[in-house]
Amino acid sequence: MSLRISRKILSSLGILALGAASLGMGQPAAAVDWAKVPAKKIMMMYPAQVSWDRLMTPGRHSGRNKWIAGKNCLACHGNIDEHPLGDSLVHGEKFIEPTPIEGKPGAVDAQVKVARDAENLYVRLEFDPLKQPDAGMDKDFETKVTMMLDDAGVPEMTRAGCWAACHDDVVSMPRGGNENTKYTFESRKVAESGGIAIKDAAELEKLKGEGKYLEYWQARLNPGKKAVAADGIVLEKRAENKDPAVKVDATQAKGIWTVTFTRKLAGSGGHKALVAGKTYTVGFAIHAGHTAKRFHYVSFERTLSIDTGSGDFVAMAN
Ligand code: HEC
Repeated sequence: MSLRISRKILSSLGILALGAASLGMGQPAAAVDWAKVPAKKIMMMYPAQVSWDRLMTPGRHSGRNKWIAGKNCLACHGNIDEHPLGDSLVHGEKFIEPTPIEGKPGAVDAQVKVARDAENLYVRLEFDPLKQPDAGMDKDFETKVTMMLDDAGVPEMTRAGCWAACHDDVVSMPRGGNENTKYTFESRKVAESGGIAIKDAAELEKLKGEGKYLEYWQARLNPGKKAVAADGIVLEKRAENKDPAVKVDATQAKGIWTVTFTRKLAGSGGHKALVAGKTYTVGFAIHAGHTAKRFHYVSFERTLSIDTGSGDFVAMAN
């Protein structure tokens, strides 16, 4: 009985959402009553050049052995270390930030809420980007908000969040003298030379078919302008979709940005199916002050589920 009722409510929500959109009464995000959804604070820190490779080099990172033994990054660092670590990394106190940006804050916090209706998953971030110097790297956008999402297709993401794709040889990293973007471990093989090489196209296609890639959503922002949506996948590189499936809606009031991502629950091509009962790993990042590449703030890994679950975020209908 109660199941039947909730299904009814869900489908009526879907109809309401459709009605509002077709009448041009608002953005899709308006389908959620955000006042009813609890927020979770997510701190994001400036990571400088601290890549996976650095963290996993013996003797460089005291968390390494315990991580290998099974303790996730969040378990040591989450909600504790983001500000102190970010503050020390952003000012180049250690050699791992060779080009510090004068006056840049070390961490940014966001209040994050998630919800669903019959058709969509909604993720909403509210944050103060703080006083940011203009780094002049991204001339087109002042601020970019990104979420990475995985459904256990990339095992390192489950345990280490975005660091799963962060390597020393990615552009703007210590050995990144090229245009390499983020990539997954499984997209690489040992080359004949003994170094690493990208797998063949057929193997990459197979990995993609098996869902062994990361998905990302991005909102590109300028004050007073309509937000631009982008999405794509990370496999052998970061590849953007021509027509993003994700929609973004952003407003700014008194400096505070409110950014909402909306994506259909149903999967397709490079979009993972979002289903109740499954646990997803997500990571958040913010590029502020016209920055690009690694000059962003990043979160440790979080879990997200739909309808039920004990993770960090549970998306429910309201
Ligand atoms: C067992 C606890 C533990 C785990 C698990 C752990 N860390 Fe750490 N981490 C530390 C401690 C302690 C430090 C500070 C001392 C140091 O740099 O070794 C640190 C330092 C760092 C720093 C600053 C880096 C630097 O070189 O100064 C970053 C960034 C970081 N950790 C990220 C991660 C990420 C990402 C993971 C997961 C892949 C992780 N940590 C797993 C305990 C841990």
